Amino acid sequence: MDNSNSANAPTPALFNTIEIRDLRIRNRIVISPMQQYRAERDGMPNNWHLSHLTKLAVGGAGLVFTEALATEESGRATHSDLGLWNDAQAEALRPIAEEIARQGAVPGAQLIHAGRKASVQKPWDGYQSLGAADAARGEEPWQVVGPSAIPANPGWQTPKAMSIDEIRRALDAFGVAARRAARAGFQVLNIHGAHGYLIHSFLSPISNHREDEYGVDLGGRMRFALEVAEAVRAEWPANLPIFYRLSCIDDLEGGWTLEDTIILARELGARGIDVIDCSSRGLGPRGTLATATQGEGFQVPFAARVRAETGIRTMAVGLIRQAAFANAVVEEESADFVAIGREALFNPHWPLHAALELGHDRRYDAWPDSYGWWLARRARTAPAVR
Ligand SMILES: Cc1cc2nc3c(=O)[nH]c(=O)nc-3n(C[C@H](O)[C@H](O)[C@H](O)COP(=O)(O)O)c2cc1C
Repeated sequence: MDNSNSANAPTPALFNTIEIRDLRIRNRIVISPMQQYRAERDGMPNNWHLSHLTKLAVGGAGLVFTEALATEESGRATHSDLGLWNDAQAEALRPIAEEIARQGAVPGAQLIHAGRKASVQKPWDGYQSLGAADAARGEEPWQVVGPSAIPANPGWQTPKAMSIDEIRRALDAFGVAARRAARAGFQVLNIHGAHGYLIHSFLSPISNHREDEYGVDLGGRMRFALEVAEAVRAEWPANLPIFYRLSCIDDLEGGWTLEDTIILARELGARGIDVIDCSSRGLGPRGTLATATQGEGFQVPFAARVRAETGIRTMAVGLIRQAAFANAVVEEESADFVAIGREALFNPHWPLHAALELGHDRRYDAWPDSYGWWLARRARTAPAVR
């Protein structure tokens, strides 16, 4: 958004453009990946996904991520998730990527294998492992997999511990999905290595009790995450960036720590990962989202620490709501990007509002003409309105 009306006013840090590899992004605001649970069949997107993501691009974000796209059919969390395990899905995602780009945002795709948190009900159906009652209404459960045969939550399905062959197939599927995402027109990838899904479950000593080369110690537990990075980097265009989402802490006794994250982040950087997307938690006892005790930007300190200690770019996420706060995160170099999730559901025009609030856009110049012309006029004729 090169739209500052005041030639002298410095651009707020939040609205500085950024270049990574060959990509230029108009500002630092990112729409965090958010499952819609709206696929009606076969992991295929529909008009809901198109209008939802287009709306968020119109809202002024620099980068708009799709929800997590499953790399394999069995890697979906619910029957209503989107996938990228076949070419038809990639073709159906193409118009969405194109429309995000047409609205001036960079289209990004997130890749996931849900691991032992697969085969579950939608949140509003109870978020339990699928069972007989779900099968009766057409949502058959399937066998979930993980590093070890340890369920994610009490009463949830016990995963099958993956064989080395199954691990290799999962790695291949990440690579192939990355290639499909590029062909569909996405320009950034986000690998979902957080929130207790397959990659995270290999990282954490709580969920990974393997005694082979994919477990035992930190090096072994990191192997799968690093091999995913390698598989994806090999298939993803060298001139385009990759983000990697991590749960920086498990926040559980004996779990994954911030020190582990820093070691992993360095290794990911060495494998061509451009941005560490700093989330937390989600392994076992539920809750990756903020609780009552957590305040604005509660995960920003993770992004700041990873950035300071590794020199790799970071993205902060989690209860970022105030424009001034978001701007300070970038200005103080705690992170290079701020991602908003629920705040964008609340107000899809959040980035445009932030530009007004920070004085970067004084006359609705950043808005599409169809809106901005009227709103600027309204502001002139009814001065009580911004
Ligand atoms: C409806 C919803 C769906 C989500 N789906 C995903 C997802 O697909 N992938 C992911 O990495 N995180 C997902 N998250 C987590 C968000 O990306 C984000 O990290 C989290 O909501 C915290 O940011 P917020 O406080 O701005 O919402 C989801 C969150 C919500 C609310």
